[in-house]
Amino acid sequence: MLISITDMQTLSITKPDDFHLHLRDGMALSNVVNHTTAQFSRAIIMPNLKPAVIDTKMALAYRHRILQCVDKNYNFEPLMTLYLTDNTTVDVITEAAESGYIKALKYYPVGATTNSAQGVTHIRKTYAVLEAMMKTGLPLLVHGEVTDDDVDIFDREAVFIDRVLTPLINDFPELKIVFEHITTGTAVDFVTHASTYIAATITPQHIALNRNDLFKGGLQPHHYCLPVLKAEADRLAVLTAATSGDPKFFLGTDSAPHARNAKEARCGCAGIYSAYNALGIYAEVFDKIGQLDKLAAFASRYGADYYGIPHNKEQITLIKKEQTIPATLPFGKETLVPFRGGGTCAWQLKK
Ligand code: NCD
Ligand code: ZN
Repeated sequence: MLISITDMQTLSITKPDDFHLHLRDGMALSNVVNHTTAQFSRAIIMPNLKPAVIDTKMALAYRHRILQCVDKNYNFEPLMTLYLTDNTTVDVITEAAESGYIKALKYYPVGATTNSAQGVTHIRKTYAVLEAMMKTGLPLLVHGEVTDDDVDIFDREAVFIDRVLTPLINDFPELKIVFEHITTGTAVDFVTHASTYIAATITPQHIALNRNDLFKGGLQPHHYCLPVLKAEADRLAVLTAATSGDPKFFLGTDSAPHARNAKEARCGCAGIYSAYNALGIYAEVFDKIGQLDKLAAFASRYGADYYGIPHNKEQITLIKKEQTIPATLPFGKETLVPFRGGGTCAWQLKK
């Protein structure tokens, strides 16, 4: 049976924001950024470049490079972040807060993920800086995993809560902390019961996939990201949080492009490129459990409210119409395999 466009299910919402995004730099940046700007008005830009973005000067230069690549049809505001290191000073925080362009600092435990070699060796080394952040209201965005070899990779997030996050919150009860890309029921429970200073971002892959998807039909490098996918019960817990209407949980794709060669390698790197059709994936997963009406607030309101920025004015429309996802996309001199590359998504952005 032919279905006309008017019979098609559509969803119009305020243009969303992506509160966790990797854009990279140079040619790669110019290849990926407009997948994001088509769907999102603003994005929190991760600072894990090489070298890392560690001060306001570097962040403003990076912001300028991003804006130069933005398609002129879109209004896009990159919300910049700084990379917290053992050597970050209180002066760096003061300058960042005064600039008005720096919206947060990112805490990577050293060695936790892609480009985290400059990460923090022990959180206590940053206490003077965290004190300054608490006073200025700048949020700390945490990659919530311990990296100790004796901790099972599937337990890294839960152990982080016990060893790092709980003491941190006790010491800085009024520091805004975003627990990034949560993956477990343990993290959902923790955030749900924490103070309103604590929030969490949720990625498309952690609500669409579970750890079986890493191995289905053979090793699947394009499903490898950090934190690694978890068990089905965890996926369901994170999805329940995303659709709960609790404003502590909001959208952050963690879209993290890597060249195909670097993923399909002897030692493949971590990161899933979801920006190509991120909203389509969220819509598909929410729709599948009958919770599509929860998407607007999750994608367009809760994050902005947490960051204290106004809601966007533009609208976008999503349609329930199967979209074929390209197997590969250009990525500098290489190619990039998007999430679901070569497959389909049940929802797409109306162009
Ligand atoms: C991210 C990247 O590639 O920069 N990778 C990932 O698996 N998520 C880094 C990160 O956010 O951990
Ligand atoms: Zn990330």
